[in-house]
Amino acid sequence: MTDFSAVPPDPESTRFLAGAGLELGLIDNADTAAARRWLLAETQGFHDRVPNDERITALLDSFGDDRVTGVWDPSAADPASPVATVRTWVMDLTVPGGDVLPAWAISSVTVAPTHRRRGIARALLGGELRTAQRAGLPIAMLTVSEATIYARYGFAPSAYRADYSIDTARARFLGPVPAGRVHLVTPASLLSEAPGVFARARQTSPGEVDRRDDLWRKILGLFPPDEEDTNPAMRAVRYDDESGRLQGYAVYRFVHGPGGYPGRLEISDLVAATDEASAALWRYVLEMDLVNEVRAPLRRTRETVSWQVSDYRSVRKTDERDHLWLRILDLPAALERRTYAADGTFALTVDDPLGLIGGTYLLAVRDGRASAHPLPPGAAPTDAIRLSLSAADLAALYLGATGAQALAAAGRITEGTTDAAARLDNTFHSPYAPWLSTWF
Ligand SMILES: CC(C)(COP(=O)(O)OP(=O)(O)OC[C@H]1O[C@@H](n2cnc3c(N)ncnc32)[C@H](O)[C@@H]1OP(=O)(O)O)[C@@H](O)C(=O)NCCC(=O)NCCS
Repeated sequence: MTDFSAVPPDPESTRFLAGAGLELGLIDNADTAAARRWLLAETQGFHDRVPNDERITALLDSFGDDRVTGVWDPSAADPASPVATVRTWVMDLTVPGGDVLPAWAISSVTVAPTHRRRGIARALLGGELRTAQRAGLPIAMLTVSEATIYARYGFAPSAYRADYSIDTARARFLGPVPAGRVHLVTPASLLSEAPGVFARARQTSPGEVDRRDDLWRKILGLFPPDEEDTNPAMRAVRYDDESGRLQGYAVYRFVHGPGGYPGRLEISDLVAATDEASAALWRYVLEMDLVNEVRAPLRRTRETVSWQVSDYRSVRKTDERDHLWLRILDLPAALERRTYAADGTFALTVDDPLGLIGGTYLLAVRDGRASAHPLPPGAAPTDAIRLSLSAADLAALYLGATGAQALAAAGRITEGTTDAAARLDNTFHSPYAPWLSTWF
């Protein structure tokens, strides 16, 4: 496995930034003073409050062997602090069919307010994408603060999330009565047990990522909190099936209402590897005493629990939006890893402004699996279904969250043969709606 923290910065971006008097470089993660300055620059970029020492220590520990990149301005008042930041690492992404693809996770993209709109973010993003492609990563991914920034780099929304508010007075739980048991446990006990259940559950959640240790600690309430976070501690339950095997868990906290009680329950994570575990855990949270509302953020866009309560409208979706943005770096490797719903032979002409995956490819799907390879100009078989699309549009289609027909109707995809978009949709259909349950 490549040590990405040791791969030097991209030469093209280094040259571009040097031309503007700026230095692109990687920090040594073991250099605490440099890492701290980088962290404070990132914090400033997101308008976050300065973390306390305990949180800084935990955040610096979480750098591990991430690739932590900065841009420095030797003419700035504080030349030791970076004026731009980005952090990258590799994390597995679940694709339709349940297999995983190693993905280049990009995070902490900030440029100081004093240095914006000079092309620094473009240099950072382009540089990290070229580096990832050279290292053989098939795909890059991020979660975004704004939906206006990343399409120009070939990213598109590829998996979604929804937030729910459930009125527990109206939501009498009618789902199956589980044969197993719910046990109260400590969130810390789930640190070792939850990843195994999550790994099974996410096989049917294209778009989920293999949460790493710092993400787990944040979800379980074990990471030093932001000082603004005055919420009480997390509580946790696990569900063991009839044979005693762990099949799911829920992590939540109780927030007092204006007069104390009733209050609301906020779910940090509810993961079930079986339908029975899901019913048991939803029943548990919805039947909680002293609670009149359950809030469940970062959930699937369609939740089974809507069909398990006496009043369908008691499960109210308060938000639904794009969450995971993907950028394909190696088209054959990405498309060959997922499974498909129908056979088809496609000639896909991809336009890529960054020049990373542009060209025409033959994609042949048989019995749920694909083979893909680039085609020389004019070499597409006459019977192939032809479409022209951008690298970003292909990323939108990749997990099956968005239909080619919608993108064709929007004037983004051009059909070269009759019903090409509809036929692509038949093939790319995912039986499970893509969903990502975490920020990274
Ligand atoms: C977003 C951010 C990183 C952009 O940095 P930057 O160095 O000013 O960006 P660049 O100068 O390289 O601009 C590249 C392109 O993005 C556009 N752009 C930059 N920031 C944008 C924004 N917030 N919204 C929409 N477009 C933006 C520029 O107009 C430019 O467009 P072009 O390619 O058509 O010329 C910076 O504004 C920032 O730090 N914002 C706060 C933190 C944040 O939101 N980060 C993103 C985390 S997901």
